Amino acid sequence: MPRFTLWFTIWLSGLLSTLPAKASVQPTDFMAFPQGFHWGSATAAYQVEGGIQNNWSAAGLDAGAGVEHWTRYEEDFTAAAEMGQSLYRLSIEWARIEPRPGEFDAGALAHYRRMLRSLQAKGIQPMVTLFHFTVPTWFEARGGWTVAENSQYFTRFVTHVSRELGDLVYYWNTVNEPVVYAFKSFDEGSWPPFKKDRNLALRVVKHLILAHGEAYRIIHAQDALASVGFAKNITLLQPNWPLNPMDQLMTNLQSYLFNETFWEAIEKGQLAFRVPGLEPIVIPYNDRLHKSMDFIGINYYTRYLITASGAQRTQPGVPVSELNWELYPEGLLQVLRLANTHAQRLRVPIIITENGLADAEDQLRPGFLLAHLHAIWQAIQEGIPVQGYLHWSLLDNFEWAEGYEHKFGLLDADRQWRPSARLYQQIARNNGFSRQLLETYPLQSASQAH
Ligand code: FCB
Repeated sequence: MPRFTLWFTIWLSGLLSTLPAKASVQPTDFMAFPQGFHWGSATAAYQVEGGIQNNWSAAGLDAGAGVEHWTRYEEDFTAAAEMGQSLYRLSIEWARIEPRPGEFDAGALAHYRRMLRSLQAKGIQPMVTLFHFTVPTWFEARGGWTVAENSQYFTRFVTHVSRELGDLVYYWNTVNEPVVYAFKSFDEGSWPPFKKDRNLALRVVKHLILAHGEAYRIIHAQDALASVGFAKNITLLQPNWPLNPMDQLMTNLQSYLFNETFWEAIEKGQLAFRVPGLEPIVIPYNDRLHKSMDFIGINYYTRYLITASGAQRTQPGVPVSELNWELYPEGLLQVLRLANTHAQRLRVPIIITENGLADAEDQLRPGFLLAHLHAIWQAIQEGIPVQGYLHWSLLDNFEWAEGYEHKFGLLDADRQWRPSARLYQQIARNNGFSRQLLETYPLQSASQAH
């Protein structure tokens, strides 16, 4: 192909990729979900439990007493069950289980066992995350995820937990949003350990990919039938100026780095990510990594427009949440189509492991929820194997560096049901929703709503 035609084709396909997702199916009177579809919600230990000492509390970002999920889990799970939820995602706090290197706390494990049993007694299946942004202080002090050898500490923890809790758990997430963590903590410097070194972030991505592969094998050695994956943040990235080839180029680069490296490494069992001026991520073929994924977990929140300089912008005037994240439900259909190309190659299903928004007044959440579920329903009609939806979050909680200000819960900290919790209950119990319901709650922007 002559050079010009090649570049033109790349440019044109970049341009076409920015067109809004074309819906292949129109809403029907009642949009039913497949039988056995999982309706659920997600939390993470440090954000809800309270009373945890880890690298965040040590760094001055102390979640304190949290929303006391550690002691109030019974009533929280009762609420989830009443809401019609059948899958609940929680994380196991490494710092509780192994407060000092090699010393495991039997009491903490017993407590998690009680939590898992309580879920099961209420007809809710647990999904357990093993690394959700927090680590014990002793691990951080040894260099944390920046040091390749430190992964052995994580795998020792995974061995212990999967041996002790494996009989109660089918779904596992080895890691949560590994690339978000790497960049927030080591490039942007806004999360502990507050480093600003892009090469370090890339090294952390590499170590987390490898740690995932090991954790996958360890869990499977305990339980061949377990379903093991990880929760990957997928943000829809589009060029700020679709006609500008430099914006397109930067978008492709970021999409590859932020959205695809993990999936690619697992599909091929190897990775070679090279950008001039940066430390490459090179993983030679590794059979423990190869195909180490039983489901694709997707955390979907928003879309960003990417400029040639790499900046991530939100389009002015579009509906946004309290945190200024654009509400872009049609992006979920695009993300699911992308994920499906991987799901087909690996022959695995997809689970939405997080989706939600900060909205204290619950003005936007009903429309947000329905619009995203509509996108999932459309994807399912296209044959994309989505098996569950976990709303972030069951409860208001500690939103990392943002603290407690922003409210993501279906329930507030006093366990009052927000109106969208009732709506979710109705949807879960009916295993779908009517067009009339969808039309009752159009998605509006925060400024229109308040
Ligand atoms: C995701 C995190 C989760 C929560 C939501 C709002 O990036 O996985 O812990 O903070 O965002």
